[in-house]
Amino acid sequence: METSKTVVIQFKNVNKTYPNGFQALKNVNLEIYSGEFIAIIGLSGAGKSTLLRSINKMHPITSGELFVGQSDVSKLQGKELRLLRRNIGMVFQSFNLVKRSTVLANVLNGRVAYNNKFLMFLGIFSQKDKIRALESLDDLGILDKAYERADRLSGGQQQRVALSRALTQESTIILADEPVASLDPITTISVMDDFSKINKKLGITIIANMHHVDLALKYATRIIGLKDGQVVYDGPCSNVTDEVITSIYGRSLTSNEKLGEAVNEETTS
Ligand SMILES: Nc1ncnc2c1ncn2[C@@H]1O[C@H](COP(=O)(O)OP(=O)(O)O)[C@@H](O)[C@H]1O
Ligand SMILES: [Mg+2]
Repeated sequence: METSKTVVIQFKNVNKTYPNGFQALKNVNLEIYSGEFIAIIGLSGAGKSTLLRSINKMHPITSGELFVGQSDVSKLQGKELRLLRRNIGMVFQSFNLVKRSTVLANVLNGRVAYNNKFLMFLGIFSQKDKIRALESLDDLGILDKAYERADRLSGGQQQRVALSRALTQESTIILADEPVASLDPITTISVMDDFSKINKKLGITIIANMHHVDLALKYATRIIGLKDGQVVYDGPCSNVTDEVITSIYGRSLTSNEKLGEAVNEETTS
């Protein structure tokens, strides 16, 4: 049953050309709604990371319009840009934790944007912040790791710490750039289940670049297929036929490739 949906991110004729002249996004038009779980798929070099990072202005667009909520991302600077970034959690393949800090200290980093920077510099957080951080660790089943050094944890646990940090930040949107690409298959499933839980229970909008087509189809509510910087598919998982796969990857994929094995571009097209 569809009720009125809120657009949280909108791309209108967006182009991105890097300073060296390479055009990584070509006339991208997208509307992303609150609570969606979107998987972006495509060959390496298709523009997935560029697209994701344009949303929080890590990679500014060169033309067109990009809105997050009511905010025109291209116009945001200083405090307004910090507010946008506070609202958007990021999770990377490489986890991006402060390795030598404790798990709790990493998760508390999610509160930095809310607080006095001098207190943060001294490592002084309120009880409320600490409770919030511990709650999010508990939600992800790693509360017992709170005082361990981040780099002592397994990959799956480290990715849960990154997710806890995004939750503690109280983001309404999480951008995930190949979040499970460096995890083993079993851990991958449990981390994807965590993403799913966060999406369903908290209504957080998730946009994830995915290597594994099968996983994308299993977890996402919608698939965006990119090829050479263009959106060549945008729709439900149920319509991702072999034809669609061919339009995204240049040919059909073997079952191993759908499971995340690198697609060799030489043998495509
Ligand atoms: N800073 C940059 N300068 C120039 N070209 C870049 C830069 N970053 C990425 N690219 C190019 O843009 C294209 C898209 O890259 P990317 O968004 O990382 O793709 P994906 O995440 O799908 O692998 C690639 O051809 C890549 O080489
Ligand atoms: Mg990438």
